[in-house]
Amino acid sequence: MNPCTALDAALGDLLQQIADHLGAPVPAPLRAALHAAPRHLFLPPLLWLRDGNGGYEPCDRAQDPERWWHAAYRDAPLVTQFTELPDGDLIPSSSASMPSMVIRMLRALEARPGQRVLEIGTGTGFNAALLSHLYGSENVTSVDIDPDLIHRAERALRTSGHRPSVRCADGAEGWPPAAPYDAIIATCAVRTVPRPWLDQTATGGRIVTPWDTAWCNYGTLIATKQPDGTAEGFLAPYGSFMLIRSQQVDIELHRDVLRPGQTPERSTTRLSPWSVAGNDLNAQAYVGLSVPGVWHSWDTEPDGPGPGTGAHTRLWLADDQATSWASVDYDGHRTTTFAVSQYGPRNLWDEVTRAHAQYVSAGRPTLDRLRLHIHPEGPATRHEVRLATA
Ligand SMILES: C[S@@+](CC[C@H](N)C(=O)[O-])C[C@H]1O[C@@H](n2cnc3c(N)ncnc32)[C@H](O)[C@@H]1O
Repeated sequence: MNPCTALDAALGDLLQQIADHLGAPVPAPLRAALHAAPRHLFLPPLLWLRDGNGGYEPCDRAQDPERWWHAAYRDAPLVTQFTELPDGDLIPSSSASMPSMVIRMLRALEARPGQRVLEIGTGTGFNAALLSHLYGSENVTSVDIDPDLIHRAERALRTSGHRPSVRCADGAEGWPPAAPYDAIIATCAVRTVPRPWLDQTATGGRIVTPWDTAWCNYGTLIATKQPDGTAEGFLAPYGSFMLIRSQQVDIELHRDVLRPGQTPERSTTRLSPWSVAGNDLNAQAYVGLSVPGVWHSWDTEPDGPGPGTGAHTRLWLADDQATSWASVDYDGHRTTTFAVSQYGPRNLWDEVTRAHAQYVSAGRPTLDRLRLHIHPEGPATRHEVRLATA
């Protein structure tokens, strides 16, 4: 197949996959943008694909060009960079987002050609190219905190014929020289909206950003800047992105939270740990917004340090101050009663139980029924969450 035909076929296939995910055809301007920014031009030779077991496997263009090309035009996120943590663990630190997610977020932006847009998280440059096609390169600024990514993205953008302004900076500061913006779109998640984003968005402009809580990484904030300097928005039920580097918290359960000699309070609960940390993402998001700074992790071999032994599966809870923790144990048999241990100034399981009871009494609202009101507060912002009337 000649290269043009191969690209047309791959793009046609990708557009169909995106339409299947969205349940609707890709709107014409976004289809044209995808043609003007062929995704493979933005991808590095080495990609990391999900291995189906919670890990990643390499996909090297030099060794397996067909598999690499197929990956480039699948509707899936592709990890393009790992970073080593001080303890030696590797975590994904940049990726090319899933194309259908990119399209959803661009639709949510509702900007018009000629409007000024700031992207936080340049990554590969793919989204910056789409934005450039939609709004004009001269109206697009994109920042990433990683200089290597910026250099690569700049080259790819030139190759694809786009020239947005690409800067290496901490996106939590926005990019004041080109402000105000009609839209700010982030492709890394935040737990609070950075104050500069609020200040640098023009009245009536949009902020679209993946949302994160310590409990749950899910949802996309779509907010509109109000004349009084606040923003009003809601959480769309999609999106799971890596957290912006400036809001990352480096706390580990076994290193920082659990200590010898801690004596937890013991009790039992009838609330299944899977109700708050299982497949119900709406419940997870509600708990995360209600109990900020509290995170959880599952332990399927809970025989290490901690409360008692003999549990089959344990849900751990801890707070961002590393002062309180709790655990909820499933013994492998009883699904109506679970053993609880709580330690520290906060009774974390009690807090989560109350949040879940509110979620149930509110009629188990889907994420998009939660309204966020974002206020400037000193150098930061604060958000209030309300339930929209049905
Ligand atoms: C999902 S990737 C971006 C995908 C990108 N938009 C694309 O089209 O390829 C998230 C990016 O956010 C960047 N990032 C994380 N923290 C940041 C910060 N504080 N300021 C700017 N960029 C940041 C990461 O370096 C990473 O490249």
